[in-house]
Amino acid sequence: MELHEMNSDAAERESRFLKRIAEGQTIEPKDWMPERYRKQLLRMMSQHAHSEVVGMLPEGNWLTRAPSLMRKSVLLAKIQDEAGHGLYIYSGAETLGTSREEMIDQLLTGKAKYSSIFNYPSLNWADMGAIGWLVDGAAIVNQTMLAKCSYGPYARAMVRICKEENFHNKQGYQIMAHLMRGTKEQQEMAQDAFNRWWWPSIMMLGPSDKNSPNSAELMSWKVKLQSNDELRQRFIDRTVPQAEAIGLTVPDEKLKWNPQTRHYEFGEINWDEFNQVISGNGPCNRLRMKQRRDAHENGRWVREAALAHAAKRAKSEAA
Ligand code: ACO
Repeated sequence: MELHEMNSDAAERESRFLKRIAEGQTIEPKDWMPERYRKQLLRMMSQHAHSEVVGMLPEGNWLTRAPSLMRKSVLLAKIQDEAGHGLYIYSGAETLGTSREEMIDQLLTGKAKYSSIFNYPSLNWADMGAIGWLVDGAAIVNQTMLAKCSYGPYARAMVRICKEENFHNKQGYQIMAHLMRGTKEQQEMAQDAFNRWWWPSIMMLGPSDKNSPNSAELMSWKVKLQSNDELRQRFIDRTVPQAEAIGLTVPDEKLKWNPQTRHYEFGEINWDEFNQVISGNGPCNRLRMKQRRDAHENGRWVREAALAHAAKRAKSEAA
């Protein structure tokens, strides 16, 4: 084939791809896609899957200290859901041509990122409320958008994940509401957790639009349908009234409802802190990576046993 024919073939494929995106169709694993689209999605999806799995650690810290059997079972169910979310998203990401083992290796060797939010410590029981309510609340805002994204396997995984995140969000809010109806000490504990998790939850939605190098490209392909700042505003607008309803004070002196825009105005975000956390220098980055590596090593025998069992079954079924 002549060079000009190859170029016109490639241009035609690209324009068909863009037309399908413009028409709101999903792109499926066997469809042609630009290499850059594949790479960007793999980056996002693998980071997302890693976040679900690393996100189990701050909550796992409280499983043995949950204040009642009921709280313990709810927390355990939530943490198990997060492992499931990691698995759906790793499976979705594998359709882009990288195996789960490779992605996990990238996480464990520090080549891949995971969400900044999981590098903060969980210091008291109210943190379990704050994480479910705020962290999963911010995740829902982001993931409701991703459930309509252009890559089919990612969008479909998000539908179920969002349903489960809603349960997580409500159980977190319920913990906070319960503490706010309790003793003075319990109310202070809830306020303290809220103070510590509010700003990191706002940051977790990503850098401001002017400092977000990937947004324009992702939005042109409808992977992202809203920008980081739009999602952040949405999260703040829906969360502030929830805080006020249970008597919590938002730790932001500049927070103000603007009746003209019908949005809350808020104070300066500490982007230095965010940049430190995503470059490995947050309060718990080293601890989280150590815990994750240890968990991977300690689970090796389980993976080996499961593989041996599957091989034995396959052999007996074949016989
Ligand atoms: N934590 C760690 N890194 C972040 C974060 C964050 N909260 N936000 C942005 N970054 C990184 C980006 O990954 C990117 O770095 P990279 O190019 O080396 O990958 C850099 O900062 C610049 O950011 P953006 O250009 O804004 O990146 P992007 O357009 O991909 O937007 C976002 C970031 C919003 C996190 C997007 O990737 C996304 O929606 N991902 C899927 C959702 C997700 O991962 N959620 C994780 C938490 S949900 C949960 O686990 C409960």
